[in-house]
Amino acid sequence: MALNEKISSAELERQKGFMDKIRDINEEFYNKKGRRKTMFIQTFGCQMNAHDSEKLYGMLEEMGYEPADEEKDADFVIYNTCCVRENAENRVYGNLGYLKHQKKRNPYMKIALCGCMMQQETVLQTIKEKYKHVDIVFGTFNLYKLAELIYINYETNAPVFDIWKEHGEIVEDLPSVRHFKYKASVNIMFGCNNFCSYCIVPYVRGRERSRCSEDILNEIRQLSKDGVKEVMLLGQNVNSYGKGLEEDITFAQLLRKVNEIEGIERIRFMTSHPKDLSDELIYAMRDCDKVCHHIHLPFQAGNNEILRVMNRKYTKEQYLALVDKIRSEIPDIAVTTDIIVGFPGEDDACVDDTIDVIKKARFSGAFTFIYSKRTGTPAAAMEQVPEDIVKRNFNRVLDALNPIIYDINKEKIGKVYKVLADDVSSDADFITGRLEDNSLVHFKGDRSMLGEILDVRITDCKTFYLIGERI
Ligand code: 5AD
Ligand code: SF4
Repeated sequence: MALNEKISSAELERQKGFMDKIRDINEEFYNKKGRRKTMFIQTFGCQMNAHDSEKLYGMLEEMGYEPADEEKDADFVIYNTCCVRENAENRVYGNLGYLKHQKKRNPYMKIALCGCMMQQETVLQTIKEKYKHVDIVFGTFNLYKLAELIYINYETNAPVFDIWKEHGEIVEDLPSVRHFKYKASVNIMFGCNNFCSYCIVPYVRGRERSRCSEDILNEIRQLSKDGVKEVMLLGQNVNSYGKGLEEDITFAQLLRKVNEIEGIERIRFMTSHPKDLSDELIYAMRDCDKVCHHIHLPFQAGNNEILRVMNRKYTKEQYLALVDKIRSEIPDIAVTTDIIVGFPGEDDACVDDTIDVIKKARFSGAFTFIYSKRTGTPAAAMEQVPEDIVKRNFNRVLDALNPIIYDINKEKIGKVYKVLADDVSSDADFITGRLEDNSLVHFKGDRSMLGEILDVRITDCKTFYLIGERI
């Protein structure tokens, strides 16, 4: 542990040196032009990426960049990309086409790409050949080198590509700017070893590695001092937390330690893989008063043969038994999930199994995805399901899910819940907040309520949100 930390802090110092250099360069720009350089970060994909973007933002701020109102006016644009599904990739290419014109307008504009998509060889080739206006490309393992890469690009005035195939050290203490004041995400581990046959994440995020518990706890203590009330512990598969560390610790034990941190009032985590969700974790969730009664437990598909080919390592029956076990210990827990429709070989009867799981597990929310073929994964080589069948089955899945979600919401009407007010709604008189089970509620209020945990009575609902009033 000590070794890892020492190397990390030395590297961090090096990077701080580059940040200082860029800050000086930007200061010179300000003195000449009378305006500060601006930045714009666009995040694609999951919470892990959103959290990485907070680090990118923190580093750029440290280097003297100010947020731009609009992407087209920014002097430094970063796309933090995702490659879990093809449409996220297509959006990046589309946006890059748009930026080409903007760059002609603003000669100072620099364009950087990072994140999962950049870890793929074919993508790099495409960028090099067709998107020559991109200045800096880096990947998921070397985000912390941003300042150094900007500096190299500045010195050489040539495109910089720096993609690592493997992870290096875990770099602690990067500057970061949180999107929300009262809630924050904390990485507890990186990477994934599961190799679900449809998924590209293990190829682009590398093998599982956990952060030392003291680093995590110190970060959360500091967040608490800064006024954060809710933390989200992030990892592709949090149940594997602790494996490979010198210290002897499990995710359940970590959760119990986080629960003791003063000032933190709510703890969430994602994502849990059903195959290794332990009893120990269920008991920790039950016992820890700050751990929210919500679990995100992706089941992906209901048919056992599909699950086997997906390499998920559980059956439909095992999944349902697990949900029952969790509910027997924590009766009011909300269970949400991820579902993929259209995996190779999935016919109507297979989707009936998925619908059966939906009806039995009664999810209070779900992310539903149409299967997207990802080059390099085992499933990409399998025979694909025709699009019309996939679309029809996707709609069948939604038709099964939505009434259940609506019913669960309806049961809340008339009841009072604790709500963390965390944002101003698009209608300015309204505030949005989250119940402990993660459902979204809109209620009348103003900015002064942000960050408070308030009692809210639910008065009405739609499928995807609740409406309430403060009492
Ligand atoms: N196609 C569609 N959905 C996918 N996911 C992962 N890979 C793919 C893919 N190739 C979904 C899974 C996972 C979520 C983060 O993204 O449901 O749980
Ligand atoms: Fe992808 Fe499976 Fe790992 Fe989740 S557990 S990131 S779906 S390989």
